[in-house]
Amino acid sequence: MVERLLARTTDVHERRVLQAYAAEEDEHARLIGAYFEKHGLERGPPFWIQPALDRIDGRTPLLVLMFHMELMAALFYGTVAQSVEAGEARALIRRLLRDEARHIRLFRSLARRELQAKRGFERVTARALVTSVQVSAYTTAQYQARQLAPLLGERAAKLPRRVWAQFTAERGGLFDAAPQKLDGWWAAQKRGQAVFLRSGASGVPGCAET
Ligand SMILES: [Fe+2]
Repeated sequence: MVERLLARTTDVHERRVLQAYAAEEDEHARLIGAYFEKHGLERGPPFWIQPALDRIDGRTPLLVLMFHMELMAALFYGTVAQSVEAGEARALIRRLLRDEARHIRLFRSLARRELQAKRGFERVTARALVTSVQVSAYTTAQYQARQLAPLLGERAAKLPRRVWAQFTAERGGLFDAAPQKLDGWWAAQKRGQAVFLRSGASGVPGCAET
């Protein structure tokens, strides 16, 4: 998805940030893969919605989708971190969460810039797009929460509602709240510090705990 987005991004600064983001996601995949290998765990098949995601293209749909996927990832990671015993698995998830908070900030900012440039009918269409992505993601969250119920216990049942509450809280801001400059994201990454976490501004409770 990042490659598809990069193919539609000409802004040099934005490309630089997206490439840094892609490198972080690759590192996450490597860390998770190493953990699975070390513990002899088998990876499941690709998630059922993956074929549909692979077909999505266009800058606006990609940005809206990636923002919501980052939100969901952080909420799920946060809940898993609360549910597993202290140890290697929790340490790994918290390590991932540190980056996820910044990923949310990055895509929130990019999605806001994209959506707020829309006028007239394009803006109406963009609102419909956000709603459809949120409903689809919420449906996915329900499915995924059921799959994780053996691990998450009672927390699994509450997760989809938390996802929806987060989506609802974000919806208005996507069209009206000021986007943040990308410079902050880049500076935070260079310092190796999740400054956004310290401010507790990720908006995702699980992220603020790391
Ligand atoms: Fe992420």
